[in-house]
Amino acid sequence: MKPSGEDQAAPAAGPWEECFQAAVQLALRAGQIIRKALTEEKRVSTKTSAADLVTETDHLVEDLIISELRERFPSHRFIAEEAAASGAKCVLTHNPTWIIDPIDGTCNFVHRFPTVAVSIGFAVRQELEFGVIYHCTEERLYTGRRGGGAFCNGQRLRVSGETDLSKALVLTEIGPKRDPATLKLFLSNMERLLHAKAHGVRVIGSSTLALCHLASGAADAYYQFGLHCWDLAAATVIIREAGGIVIDTSESQAAFSSKFSTQASSPRLQEKQSEPWRTGRHPRWGPVGLPHSSLDEPPRNKMGCSPL
Ligand code: IPD
Repeated sequence: MKPSGEDQAAPAAGPWEECFQAAVQLALRAGQIIRKALTEEKRVSTKTSAADLVTETDHLVEDLIISELRERFPSHRFIAEEAAASGAKCVLTHNPTWIIDPIDGTCNFVHRFPTVAVSIGFAVRQELEFGVIYHCTEERLYTGRRGGGAFCNGQRLRVSGETDLSKALVLTEIGPKRDPATLKLFLSNMERLLHAKAHGVRVIGSSTLALCHLASGAADAYYQFGLHCWDLAAATVIIREAGGIVIDTSESQAAFSSKFSTQASSPRLQEKQSEPWRTGRHPRWGPVGLPHSSLDEPPRNKMGCSPL
């Protein structure tokens, strides 16, 4: 079933219904632009590293989403990936705030690898209200609303409920850093998971879509060190509403603008793990689940934006 924006098995209209519908329509419009641009020539620039890519389509889509939303909701605030890369502060206040990743999977997009998404999250009083993620090439619209369930093209989503790491399919992402410490961490964690006899480990190049697979039960757990709030906001609501949990495992005073050390899974997979794994739960994003003991500690990295 193709998404129309009208098939989102919606709960009774809540206070943010108009915002939710606007997000759905904009995600679908942005998805059309991205789908068309995917096979065309692109102007590619780099940001924090040679593997941290941005194209004119990232900027075009972000500008489109923000300008339309600003016109409709002039008092709302925005945190968006490319604006932040250009130096905009990402501060989450109590005001209604849109958290936007115009193309998640930009490296895929550059290479015409068709796993790319638009991600729009919405928070009020620092609480995530809804998330909308559109898988542009497969035309899958994922939505989650606080207290209203998670859906993909109208079908309800549930996390797998797998409790055993040795029976789990685990998703992770590499991120854009290639320094020796980051590579060592990535490879040692991969080795640990394989030693733990996980059924498989997958890297698909889009953290938001990886998290959507988790929400739909197609994978059992996810972890990554160094995600930003725009990678996580929409997906966090979708996973929570699908019965899963998302935690930040870093024990830092993780400000909203920091990079997150993220784990996600069904709650029972986490509950089975020992206490150390539960430390460092990020109060704002709430609890996820891989055995902390099975992963090396992440490097502590800050994004350089203002804390709350
Ligand atoms: C990136 C993707 C990637 C993840 C990176 C993110 P972008 O987002 O989600 O899977 O590993 O950490 O920055 O740059 O394509 O929007």
